[in-house]
Amino acid sequence: MPPVNELGGYALFTAGAWPHHDHLGVGGPGVVALSLARHALRLAHDTLRPRRLLLPHYTCHSMKAAAARLGAEVQYYHLGEGFIPDLGGVQAGDLCVVNNHFGLAALDAAWQHALASASVAQRLVDNTQSLDLERRWPDCWSVQSPRKFLPVTDGGIVVLPEDQPESALRLPEATDQSWQRMGWLFRAIDEGTRSTSYAEYLAYRRDQVQNIPDALASPTTRQLLQALDVAGVIRQRQARFEDLRHRLPLHPSCQHLKLAAGSSPIGFPVQVADAAQAQVRLAQHRIFAIRYWPEQAHGDQGGDELNAFERSWRDQTLFLPLDGDCDEVQLQQVHDVISGAQR
Ligand SMILES: Cc1ncc(COP(=O)(O)O)c(C=O)c1O
Repeated sequence: MPPVNELGGYALFTAGAWPHHDHLGVGGPGVVALSLARHALRLAHDTLRPRRLLLPHYTCHSMKAAAARLGAEVQYYHLGEGFIPDLGGVQAGDLCVVNNHFGLAALDAAWQHALASASVAQRLVDNTQSLDLERRWPDCWSVQSPRKFLPVTDGGIVVLPEDQPESALRLPEATDQSWQRMGWLFRAIDEGTRSTSYAEYLAYRRDQVQNIPDALASPTTRQLLQALDVAGVIRQRQARFEDLRHRLPLHPSCQHLKLAAGSSPIGFPVQVADAAQAQVRLAQHRIFAIRYWPEQAHGDQGGDELNAFERSWRDQTLFLPLDGDCDEVQLQQVHDVISGAQR
């Protein structure tokens, strides 16, 4: 069967050099490469020994599960319109996790104001929905998850606040199981197409990522991160975002947001009547849009229900992939699905 055009997944291998490997690569000062982003929570918790952990209700289940495993007191907070975290309850001695939502919030003044307002506490910016070359939050912990953007199987890049002594870190062990996880990546390359890879990728994530232990990043991932053209991936993804902005209606809550230089968002958010249905229809055209986080509809460790703003993100928002160029046919398919024209 001839390869079918597909959108969704991660960038393919392009050699280059991570230009800032002194601080956002691996092993530079002020940077710790863990095996997954969720493990940043344990590193920060075990190092800082906070009184409480503050987490957004509207976040990835894996962060909530990681927090629950710590056995710490966890307090959940809501987002207001425009992703602004309601951090009114933050106290000194807390560790407060704030999401850079979809990699789009970093330049937003109200979001920055909310982050600054929590400075009585230690703050961890969850920057996993951004691929980012800059050290943006010099007085916060922050974390990225390169495997959502790049062909690596693990990695949680923690950037430490400038005043955090590295000698005080309670680092996990180094264990390396990465070669066991590489097959699906290389098969996609051997076949010269990703047309069979994305479904495998999702299956792989379901089956294997959950079981990666708290550890340092694998040597495989470290070497790939140093070899990949990360700056080029960011440039391309930014260009695709701007291109889609001219061709599709960006989600109304994001209209005012700008892209930060040197960073790429996870996807292009569009508003639809029913995200679950629209996702299935797009997948029939091999356009793999992402939802955040559908599993919250089936019970949430946060306890309380999501508020109306958060629910609309869960139920009525799709993120279109930025890993490949969207051709005219695909664009029409997306238009049809957004406008509900397609049966
Ligand atoms: C906002 C957010 N934080 C954290 C994570 C977890 O990242 P990792 O899988 O690298 O632990 C995810 C995963 O999708 C996420 O969306």
